[in-house]
Amino acid sequence: MTLPPGRPVWLGTSWKMTKTLADATAWARAVAAAHWAGLPTVRPFVLPPATALTAVRDVLVGSPVEVGAQNAHWADAGAWTGEVSVPQVRDAGAVLVEIGHSERRAWFGETDRTVNLKVHATLRHGLTALVCVGEPEAAFRAGRSVEHVLAQTRAALADVTDLGRVLVAYEPVWAIGEQGRPARPDEVAGVVAALAAEVGPAGVRLLYGGSVDTSNAADLLAVPGLDGLFVGRAAWAAEGFLALAALAATAVR
Ligand code: PGA
Repeated sequence: MTLPPGRPVWLGTSWKMTKTLADATAWARAVAAAHWAGLPTVRPFVLPPATALTAVRDVLVGSPVEVGAQNAHWADAGAWTGEVSVPQVRDAGAVLVEIGHSERRAWFGETDRTVNLKVHATLRHGLTALVCVGEPEAAFRAGRSVEHVLAQTRAALADVTDLGRVLVAYEPVWAIGEQGRPARPDEVAGVVAALAAEVGPAGVRLLYGGSVDTSNAADLLAVPGLDGLFVGRAAWAAEGFLALAALAATAVR
């Protein structure tokens, strides 16, 4: 891996719309009990559903595992039925907010504009913004991945000054989820390099996500410019998350 010694390797998971409170706290108890002192370079985080945020935070207090939300509204409060605000998720225990996942863009009307509003709201309230970007399969096939992802990233970060509290997760839409095809490192290296050149110098850290598991994590972490991984299915069991954490720890030279 190309990171200098001591630079942390981020390892996060979003649970999406899975887990009861019992499932969530069982995961958190197993992860809290891991030997994190032996993995000092790993910077772990978990994004439970909003219903489990506080319960998971309460179990993970005292461990290095940070807790975040999968979404939050850009307004601080008001008549927005069904939404939760950044102050509310912060109150519930979140220190990070995921913004603009492709599932939200595809199904819930998330746009570059709302992503940008949410990034501003997240930073205004002192939380870390985890911005998801990624090109659809058609753009990938047309050789337009870099163009697509840079445009999304520029829109997401428009007028953002505090880029040191921004993580960008590059997640090609075609690589995510059950229907996704895991990407090879050489297929994502160009976009990662372009993102690193564009926002790396300002302090943005870059994660990769989309069908990451223990079979491809080490190779993906070796892509120059990446600071970590953002994982769905493979980390929904505590053992999976911990296996990936062990791999992330060995990625640092
Ligand atoms: P996956 O999800 O690892 O299950 O493909 C990744 C994501 O959506 O962030």
